[in-house]
Amino acid sequence: MFCRICNNQTQVINSFGRMPIANNFLKQDSFKEEYFFDLETMFCISCKTFQLVEQPDPQLMFHENYAFFSGTSKKMAEHFKIMAESYRQQFIADPQKAFVVELGSNDGIMLKHFARDGIKHLGVEPSENVAHVAREQGVATKVAFFGEQTASAILEEHGQADIICAANVMCHIPDLASVAKGVVSLLKNDGVFVFEDPYLGDVIQKTSYDQIYDEHVYIFSLLSVQQIFEPYGLELFHVEPQITHGGSMRYYLCLQGQRVVQDSVKKQLEIEKTLGLDNVETFINFRDACEKSRQELVTLLKELKAAGKRVVGYAATSKSTTILNYCGIGKESIEYISDTTPLKQGKFSPGMHIPIKPYQEFTNDTPDYAVLFAWNHAQEIFEKEENFTKKGGKWITFIPEVKVLEQV
Ligand code: TYD
Repeated sequence: MFCRICNNQTQVINSFGRMPIANNFLKQDSFKEEYFFDLETMFCISCKTFQLVEQPDPQLMFHENYAFFSGTSKKMAEHFKIMAESYRQQFIADPQKAFVVELGSNDGIMLKHFARDGIKHLGVEPSENVAHVAREQGVATKVAFFGEQTASAILEEHGQADIICAANVMCHIPDLASVAKGVVSLLKNDGVFVFEDPYLGDVIQKTSYDQIYDEHVYIFSLLSVQQIFEPYGLELFHVEPQITHGGSMRYYLCLQGQRVVQDSVKKQLEIEKTLGLDNVETFINFRDACEKSRQELVTLLKELKAAGKRVVGYAATSKSTTILNYCGIGKESIEYISDTTPLKQGKFSPGMHIPIKPYQEFTNDTPDYAVLFAWNHAQEIFEKEENFTKKGGKWITFIPEVKVLEQV
């Protein structure tokens, strides 16, 4: 297997088995034509990029029925508001002349803060349905995948950008060479390319293998981000760890030599050395930890079933698709999964076909246990769900280890 970035030989790490598209919540009449692929990871010893072996065609993942809307979490909405303020303060000298481009702008959750202040902006979003929601909020959005071609079309129509940003998007894009070339052509000389994604250091430390699914073709580290973008003249000058998505990293890049490289880069690179993110052994240990986690979760659910307990799932996240299919957990173990996204409700989970029910179903019900699939939103959810625990309900988590939370 060859690396997508540097074309060198890689080492295969995880084999999670046959996997459906993580966000393809489906109706019963589509079960027969459901798409599956082999979910496997590999590590490139040369450029240190941790990546999927096979990724389904992007058209199968991002389309007019894309089920992920960024606006479903209050904490995430707050996170994007703070992000917009921070970018504006740091990188916009004159709001009248500024131009901000966001890649994978989803429902406009971040750009709306620029739109409201009358700052020129453009979202680039391949999924028509979420782009429609953004436009309704006054966020200018172009329905497209970003790459060299889209960049030159934007350049022609709008000119160069001060900020090109992305959140939970770069790790989705297999052809990063095209993105890098597009960014370099679109960015002003003193412009900034800033993006954040789930961080490899957190995935390894927490055994959060559920970050691995079709959309996440890469799980980045600083080591890999430098190797990926430097050949195109983009220099990493600052990084900031984020608590979102169970542990993310924000990467700040500029055109080579345009800014002073901050200490944060050196410090985080040292942490990566300590974590062994440059070493294939670390990934072999990670594979064993995933297997152990799977066995423990399956055993716990079997024990609860044998004891006659009712178990449901909380939040039909993309991440849950990897957990459920890798562990082989179906509706015999988890009765249903409640979710607040209307598009998912009344459908079934990809692959294991557990029914997805509206959130109200969970609040009116008294299950004994709820598996917290949105573990990354634990704080927000525990605050909201005091009633569940008051009624005697218990949470099951599997990150960083499989555990019943007696008290939250
Ligand atoms: P997230 O962890 O952001 O998802 P993903 O793994 O897909 O990136 O969670 C988003 C999903 O969780 C979305 O389907 C809505 C659902 N959700 C709830 O149902 N209730 C909640 O309180 C929260 C925070 C999310």
